[in-house]
Amino acid sequence: MLNGKRILLIVGGGIAAFKSLDLIRRLREQGASVTPVLTRAAQEFVTPLSVSALAAEKVYLDLFDLTDEAEMGHIELSRAADLVVVAPATADLMAKMANGHADDLASTLLMATDKRVLVAPAMNVRMWEHPATKRNTATLVKDGLLFAGPVEGSMACGEFGPGRMSEPHEIMEDIERALSNGPLKGRHIVVTSGPTHEPIDPVRYIANRSSGAQGSAIARALAALGADVTFVTGPATVAPPDGVRVIPVETAAEMLDAVKGALPAKAAVFAAAVADWRMETASDSKIKKDANGAPKLKFAENPDILATVAHLKSGRPGLVVGFAAETDDVVANASAKLARKGCDWIVANDVRPETGIMGGSENAVTLVTADGAEDWPRMSKDQVAAKLADRIAATLSGQ
Ligand code: CTP
Repeated sequence: MLNGKRILLIVGGGIAAFKSLDLIRRLREQGASVTPVLTRAAQEFVTPLSVSALAAEKVYLDLFDLTDEAEMGHIELSRAADLVVVAPATADLMAKMANGHADDLASTLLMATDKRVLVAPAMNVRMWEHPATKRNTATLVKDGLLFAGPVEGSMACGEFGPGRMSEPHEIMEDIERALSNGPLKGRHIVVTSGPTHEPIDPVRYIANRSSGAQGSAIARALAALGADVTFVTGPATVAPPDGVRVIPVETAAEMLDAVKGALPAKAAVFAAAVADWRMETASDSKIKKDANGAPKLKFAENPDILATVAHLKSGRPGLVVGFAAETDDVVANASAKLARKGCDWIVANDVRPETGIMGGSENAVTLVTADGAEDWPRMSKDQVAAKLADRIAATLSGQ
C-alpha cells in the first residue's frame, strides 16, 4: 500500500505516455496522491484534461505559468513529493537530465528536487542502444537515479527489442520498493556480482562460469528491505535487478575502482566470482598463430577486492560479507578465508560440478562467522538471498 505517499509524475512525450494513465489509476488505488506534470510533447499523446481527471489534481504544464508560481513555485513542487517518477522517460528527457538542462518545467523540477527519482525509459530499440543514450543512462545511474525497465518487446514503431516501457504494474513494484519503509531504509549497501573478464588480447579473455544469479538475488532482496543498493556487476548472464544503482564493469581492476568509488556504505556483500589472475600485459593486437607454437601467457595476480575493503583503515563498511566457492573441506577453507580476508562473514558454498550450484538456481550454503558455522538447507538462490538480507538487516539494526 502507498497510503499517504505523494508522487510527482512527470510524463514525457512518447507513445507510451498512454500507459501513464493506467499508472495514475493504480497509484491512486493504492492510496497515493499523484501530481502530474506533462512536457510539451507529452501533451501531443495524452490530454491534460484526462490526466488531471484521473489524478484528481491540477496538472502542471509550463514553467512560466504565473498562477502556478503564485500557488506553488517549481521548487516547492519538486520537493513536496515523496518520490519523483518519470514515465515515460524519452531519450530526449534522459539526455536533458544527464546534462543538467532546465529549460522547461519537467527538466527544472528534475534539477531542483531533493527526492529520489525513478525513471521508466521508453524509446525505439535503436535509440535505447545508441551510444549517447548508453552514456546518459550510465550518468543517471551514477547520479543515483533508479530505473524501472525498459523491457524487451514489440514496439509501436513495428520494431522489436529493448526500449519498451515497463508495464504499469511492473513500475508499481519499483515505486513500492523505492518508497519501502523496510528495515534497511536509508542504508547504503554495495554488492558485487557476476564474473570478471580479463582481456588476453582484443578478442579473447579469461572468464569463469558465474551467472551472477546469486549476487543479483541478494541485491534485489536488500533493495526489497529498503536498502539503497549499489550493484557492481561484471558481465553476468542474469539481468541486474530493478531498483538498484547498477555499475557495470569488465575486469577486477575496474570492479575494485567502482567499489571504492561507491563507498562509504553500511555493508558490502562480495558475491562476484572475481578472476584471480589477469594477463600481466594484455596484447593490444590479436595474438596470431605462428611457427613458435602455442603462446606462453604470463599471468599477474588481480587485486583482492574483498580483502582490500575489509582491511581499509578508514571507511570500512560496518559489515563485510564475502563468499567462498569451495570444492573441498568447505567449512575449514571458508573459516581460513574469513581470517585471511579480514571479513565479518563468509557465505560458503560447495561448487563441485555434481552440486549443480554454479550456474544453477539453487544454493546450499554455510554461513561462517566469528561465532562458528551454520549450515543452511538447500534452497533457491532467491531464498538464500532473502535469508541473508534478513540477517544483514538484523545485524545493522543494532549499529
Ligand atoms: N574476491 C574478491 N577479489 C578477488 C578474489 C575474490 O573480492 N580478486 C572475493 C569474492 O567475491 C568472494 C571471496 O573473495 O567474496 C572469495 O572468493 P573465492 O574465489 O572463493 O576465493 P579466492 O580468494 O579466489 O581463494 P581461492 O581461489 O584460494 O579459494
